[in-house]
Amino acid sequence: MLTLPSIQESLELYEKARHIIPGVTQTLAKGVGQYSFGVAPIFADKGKGSKIIDIDGNEYLDLSMAVGPLSLGYCYEAVDTAIKEQLLKGITFSLPHSLEYEVAELITSIVPNAEMVRFSKTGADVTSAAVRIARAYTQRDEILCCGYHGWHDWYISVTDRDKGIPETTKNHVFTFDYNNVDSLLDSISEQTAAVILEPITFTEPKNGFLLELRELCHKFGTVLIFDEMWTGWRLALGGAQEYYDIDADLLCFSKAIANGMPLSVLCGKSNIMSILEKDVFFFTTFGGEALSLAAAKSTMNEIRKYDVPDYLHQQGKKLQQGIKSIIQKHQIPWCDCIGNPTRTMISIQHSTFPALEIKTLLQQEFLRYGILWNGFHTLSFSHSDQDILHTLFAYSEILPFIHDVLYNGNIREMIHGKILEPVFRKTTHFHSKPHLVHG
Ligand SMILES: Cc1ncc(COP(=O)(O)O)c(C=O)c1O
Repeated sequence: MLTLPSIQESLELYEKARHIIPGVTQTLAKGVGQYSFGVAPIFADKGKGSKIIDIDGNEYLDLSMAVGPLSLGYCYEAVDTAIKEQLLKGITFSLPHSLEYEVAELITSIVPNAEMVRFSKTGADVTSAAVRIARAYTQRDEILCCGYHGWHDWYISVTDRDKGIPETTKNHVFTFDYNNVDSLLDSISEQTAAVILEPITFTEPKNGFLLELRELCHKFGTVLIFDEMWTGWRLALGGAQEYYDIDADLLCFSKAIANGMPLSVLCGKSNIMSILEKDVFFFTTFGGEALSLAAAKSTMNEIRKYDVPDYLHQQGKKLQQGIKSIIQKHQIPWCDCIGNPTRTMISIQHSTFPALEIKTLLQQEFLRYGILWNGFHTLSFSHSDQDILHTLFAYSEILPFIHDVLYNGNIREMIHGKILEPVFRKTTHFHSKPHLVHG
């Protein structure tokens, strides 16, 4: 059996860090809850292309790509050169920088309905700004959502990790179920300021769901916000609006736009966005920080030049179809690979064993093959055919092995690290509104 990597340096640093960094991560999806403590690496040192190297010097094929941002890959030359060139000129300035216009102009030429553009640093910044704008524009308070949109009060109030958020915030935000028009109809009304959602997570929109949603928003005078953190620059050049041919009013982007530099984008129709000129306050010191804008300009140009979304579809399809045929060949009913090829995940449902135990063992076994796996496949332009083949080879070895382990009932003996925690991403029935009857 292949050996597990040595993670001694990671464990030692963790022991020191845990006393001064609560949770030992700034991003939940990168922390020890998602990478089995005791076997998986904890701290990164560097990366190149599709590979990440931990502080013990182990190299892994990275299937998370920093939870989305690395659309082109680690240390992608054109983007790094753009950052270095800008570094020689300055990082942050006392006046707006001309790159703000250049990048905004590029976005308006690529993204449908992006008539006006503003920048910030995090995804939560722009989803929260979009929500505030929608509230001001409609002069209503109520928000309907159905996924994850960041750490700010308005959103986290609907989850069960809501300590520290005033009770009143919760009275204005409710959830609906993706792909379920009836659940939206139950909640939407003339009081609804905005409906915000990711156009797709891991289930394709069914039966014209997005179109119906668009029409309902029109009918009730509600602003439709697409959270395109994951779909932007991956699903299609112009994002989900282009891919599904649906118009939203406001769009929120981040992650893939600057290949790892911190930038987020709020854009949309000018009749709504222009409210930022006077009535709505959305300003932040580093919004026009130029290294990230230089990175975004270069990243977007590369994505357009090489049609990266098409590449991600092709590589993702090879991976997804390959995994599905391994599952079929070995008759493994507890496992599936779901999602759009540009972003897929392994779904686990077993009648006897908890999915998190199985996921933990899968992750552990992937480490033996030099693969950093967290259940998701977030590929980049640097993921080569060789990377896909190696991943499929690992799946073809690991899935039948775990199938046998489950058959023999000894999964706990095989797991050497801590059991993984659930991903913080509730999408159904977590704060739905009392049923409405439309007259
Ligand atoms: C769909 C979606 N929206 C918003 C966010 C929040 O972005 P950030 O963590 O940059 O604030 C995330 C983060 O993962 C996300 O996946």
